[in-house]
Amino acid sequence: MRKIHIFDTTLRDGEQSPGVNLNTREKLEIAYQLEKLGVDRMEAGFPAASPGDLAAVNAIARAVKNSTVIGLSRSREQDIEAVREALQGAQDPCIHLFLATSPIHRQHKLRMDKAQVLDTARSAIRYAKRYFSKIEFSLEDAGRTEHDFLVEVTSMAVQEGAAVVNIPDTVGYLYPEEYGNLFRILKTQVPDIEKVQLSAHCHNDLGMATANTLAAIMNGADQIEGTVNGIGERAGNTAIEEIAMALETRQELFGAKTTLELSEIARTSRLVSRLTGMVVPGNKAIVGANAFAHESGIHQDGMLKEKTTYEIMTPETIGLKESKLVLGKHSGRHAFREKLVELGFILEEDEVNRAFAQFKDLADKKKEVTDDDLIALLEEKLVDS
Ligand code: KIV
Ligand code: ZN
Repeated sequence: MRKIHIFDTTLRDGEQSPGVNLNTREKLEIAYQLEKLGVDRMEAGFPAASPGDLAAVNAIARAVKNSTVIGLSRSREQDIEAVREALQGAQDPCIHLFLATSPIHRQHKLRMDKAQVLDTARSAIRYAKRYFSKIEFSLEDAGRTEHDFLVEVTSMAVQEGAAVVNIPDTVGYLYPEEYGNLFRILKTQVPDIEKVQLSAHCHNDLGMATANTLAAIMNGADQIEGTVNGIGERAGNTAIEEIAMALETRQELFGAKTTLELSEIARTSRLVSRLTGMVVPGNKAIVGANAFAHESGIHQDGMLKEKTTYEIMTPETIGLKESKLVLGKHSGRHAFREKLVELGFILEEDEVNRAFAQFKDLADKKKEVTDDDLIALLEEKLVDS
């Protein structure tokens, strides 16, 4: 099966989430956990951004042994020098160069024409080659770049010896078919395209980052970029746990897999949430508190009979102990009775019926009826009778 390389950018694009600021110790803690999760590549930071980030990238470069450590750089010499310094001591260093290619960015941000963009990118790759044998080049805002210019810049990056060419949908603008089409175009129109790995990097502004990334995989992407819990600029980046589990769950569809240690997903999610302060919404796919929780009576009854009725993945796969049956106003008698047994209450049928009615009264007043609520209710009932 085709391997999809995972490029984790929690410590760079993820740290660009408004309000997030990780110190070196926190970044190192996350880096060690990402290594356990088995990410192939981790972008540790943007060394030219601040002396603190340079120091953090260097600490990670020296500590991490089993993942490629990457530093981000604009296409300018000063930045490349900063990445060179930051990646000293790395087992497998890689520089990530980028330059915007879309007309909007060329005109308003860079104030460059196409020829200048091409020249600047080429010079940066050549300069970086003095120090790095592994170079990734990103065409920032590739999603809004003219297709012929996309082919031209990618062809240049291939000829200049980049190892990976990344096609970011920087502003989360594209629809899956459009994004997948970019990969199809590059695969068919760029000479020697097989010499590089093509990478997908999506943002979630319209909620399509995961779908777009999967469309890229369908159309030949070798690497995907994303963050744990999908954190990142604005609405965030592709959540790597979503890609890993989509490929795992729908193997017959994608015919591709990651080599992530899936059972480390839940732990990694919790660590990133705690250290960044970014709370994971309850309904977040894969790692939200409700992702393996069931409240309605019909679903709980199905789950108690056969888990695959309402679960397409097992919680154990991502390192959780078990699914949760949450007792609330939609819950039914089947789950209620199971809970009584679990809590050690053996009741006659009519007692169960009375207790169930009282439970429903309580559930109307509370979002979730906890084990403690139930014990209090049942003990009170037993004392009363
Ligand atoms: O979204 C983006 O375009 C980026 C680049 C720096 C790769 O994060
Ligand atoms: Zn990005």
